[in-house]
Amino acid sequence: MTFERGPLHGDVRVAGDKSISHRALMLAALANGTSRITEPNRGEDVLATRDAIVALGAQVEDEGSTFVVHGGTLRNPTTTIDARNSGTTTRLLMGLCAGHDIVARFDGDASLRRRPMERVARPLRALGAEVATTAGKLPATVRGIAAPAGGDYSLEIASAQVKSAILLANLDARATVRITGDLNSRDHSERMLRRFGRTIRFDGHTIELEPGELVAQDVRVPADLSGAAFFLAGAAITPGSDVTLREVGVNPTRTGILDALKAMGADLDVGPERDLDGEPVADIRVRYRPLSAVSLDGELVVRAIDEITILAVIAAHAQGTTSIRGAADLRGKESDRLTTITETLRACGVAVTEHHDGLDIEGGTAKAPDRQLRTYDDHRIAMAIAALAAPTGPHRIDDAACIAVSFPEFVPLWEAAQRVA
Ligand code: S3P
Repeated sequence: MTFERGPLHGDVRVAGDKSISHRALMLAALANGTSRITEPNRGEDVLATRDAIVALGAQVEDEGSTFVVHGGTLRNPTTTIDARNSGTTTRLLMGLCAGHDIVARFDGDASLRRRPMERVARPLRALGAEVATTAGKLPATVRGIAAPAGGDYSLEIASAQVKSAILLANLDARATVRITGDLNSRDHSERMLRRFGRTIRFDGHTIELEPGELVAQDVRVPADLSGAAFFLAGAAITPGSDVTLREVGVNPTRTGILDALKAMGADLDVGPERDLDGEPVADIRVRYRPLSAVSLDGELVVRAIDEITILAVIAAHAQGTTSIRGAADLRGKESDRLTTITETLRACGVAVTEHHDGLDIEGGTAKAPDRQLRTYDDHRIAMAIAALAAPTGPHRIDDAACIAVSFPEFVPLWEAAQRVA
């Protein structure tokens, strides 16, 4: 398909937050009773979690804009859990199985099979579960233990998936669970546990989860800031744009993209925050204004870890050289995103220097490519190309199907925003 040149206008409610949708489904599967999850993300990743919790014993009525989940009765899946492209499905459910009397085998697509699983296997073994990986990767088998002891964990890497796996593994722990170490990652699991009735304290330095029970809940899912980011970027770099994104999750552990845009001088208006079932949301308006380069590093990069590809696109349209560091973990995502976004930008005439943990991007030279661009089967690369095309298109891509991993409604919403003038 081809992404066209043209400014973005109008009001958009992007797909539901993917991270929050996974967690709501998993906790609903564990809680006794019926939970209703409204406006969930309906991408392939979340559908993989929906199917996996059914395999693990939950009943799910899929009403489209609501998942109705009857939970509380876990059982061994009779077949391998196919997590497809979803790292979150795999790692969080490995944790869930490890702390319950469940034996499950996990597998996924070619991209997921390349991603590291020992980071989650190690702490789960420490808890007493048997976890067998295939040279550190999928396929993997987890043999869980009921009612683990609880106790202390120290996180070696800033990974929400590892942190969440430890929490899910300890929901039936007999004593308080304390997690310290590198906790600079999204805190949706902690918030969702509180929403489902658990006593949990978290302050960015320590997490303490008390023994207790989950209580079924109704949860409305915020719009995904990671999906909104493509619209924010497209509008920020394309003259004549003026877009408002509705009910967007602005959890501070995720808002690195907003801080980076502000630092680059974007005309960004984040409306008043309100609480949506335990998560902060706001409407965000962005209008085109010329941008300037910045240096991005440290905790801001972690708070923008899924937005580095789109930040690289924004940098390509900012005056000066933007540097991004501290992003080595991007090499283990759906594609090696430091390399794939470098190749994408170079094909559009942008000078990029790739470093082991980041990029230097020279702004101001982007143009329409003279050939079809590859998406590398990575949804975030495909959507980043849409934003890249808005000021300089048309950009033709080899494969738009991968977008359905996180945001199946993206193309019609994007084209509608370009039509509204
Ligand atoms: C996610 C955590 C992040 C992020 C991923 C989703 C989650 O990975 O990149 O897309 O939902 O927990 P880390 O585990 O590396 O933080």
